[in-house]
Amino acid sequence: MGARDPLIERFRQNFGGGARLYRAPGRVNLIGEHTDYNDGFVLPAALQQCTWIAAAARPEPRLRVSSLRAGETLEFALDDPDPRPRRDWSDYVRGVAIMLQRDGYRLSGADMLIDSDVPVGSGLSSSAALEVATGYALLDGASQAIDLTRLALCCQRAENEFVGMRCGVMDQFASCRGAADRVLLLDCRSLEFRLSPVDPSVRLVICNSMVHHELAGSEYNRRREQCEDGVARLKTVLPTVRALRDVTAADLVRHGALLSELVLRRCRHVVTENDRVLRAAAALEAAEVGEVGRLMNASHVSMRDDYEISCREIDILVELAGRVDGVLGARMTGGGFGGCTINLVRVEAVDRFADAVGRAYKEATGITPQFLVCRPGAGAGVAN
Ligand code: GLA
Repeated sequence: MGARDPLIERFRQNFGGGARLYRAPGRVNLIGEHTDYNDGFVLPAALQQCTWIAAAARPEPRLRVSSLRAGETLEFALDDPDPRPRRDWSDYVRGVAIMLQRDGYRLSGADMLIDSDVPVGSGLSSSAALEVATGYALLDGASQAIDLTRLALCCQRAENEFVGMRCGVMDQFASCRGAADRVLLLDCRSLEFRLSPVDPSVRLVICNSMVHHELAGSEYNRRREQCEDGVARLKTVLPTVRALRDVTAADLVRHGALLSELVLRRCRHVVTENDRVLRAAAALEAAEVGEVGRLMNASHVSMRDDYEISCREIDILVELAGRVDGVLGARMTGGGFGGCTINLVRVEAVDRFADAVGRAYKEATGITPQFLVCRPGAGAGVAN
């Protein structure tokens, strides 16, 4: 479980007194995968699982950062003229400090002790939780007013420009702006958002496949390029198109010949997924949970066949879920190639679901999956 007071106590032992505690959650995405960097729509929820940071100011312009998970302490100068990524956990911390400063914030030096209970490499945004908790702690420590949307954008930039992962804004935004017992419909172009409750007759159940295939990072950036290729070609006949957000399914039918077969499938996933997100958000608000489930199932098929970001283990989990009475929908959540599924399950079927899927997945793969009944949690903030 997340360390709260024990983390402050540990900080006192390692660094001294005066620390404040900050937290930022991981997220699960109900529907809307790989739509964020296409200016589209997403429907995530913040998790209870968080990254926690105990932090206190120090006089010199340096960050001394200690990660309990990594068992490592590193130091960086805030005014390093040529910061280089180390290709490890600390890049998220350092990248955020750099981008906040580039955005015009004056930061103070700090000691930071970091702990987290967001599972790593499982598509639940442990990296966004680390970025946002870092940014929150640095801004608060320097007595700067915190604009959560600007913070999310700086964290995304850290990942894009310092870590080298061309992610969209969904994870950082959900970690900043998520709310207890709510899912968040986000327009990734305007950054307007709406929070909605989930019908009490259902639960969002996360199932961790416990696998993570290495190609995730490189394939992610490749998908982005394929989308950009699609936009560039469609623009030649549809000049108002700025992103796949502006393309309709009818446009793809009409002008599909301009695209390679592969790029056409990639674009079709994004265009149909955007439509599914909006329909799922409306269905959720109308308490039409059966419709939400059907849209989730269709989303998985689209990710599996058109976007090709699923994998054998995840497809097995989704298929097994579909056989359980009381499961309304199941799909992979997150960037792809492993990680977790998100399942919309009737309250009374949750135990049966975990039992049946857990057993059959173990039989099929030899792996014991982990289940997590998600109660959406609050966005980033001060924790003490
Ligand atoms: C990762 C990225 C997000 C988003 C998802 C896929 O989590 O960080 O920006 O693109 O993949 O929906």
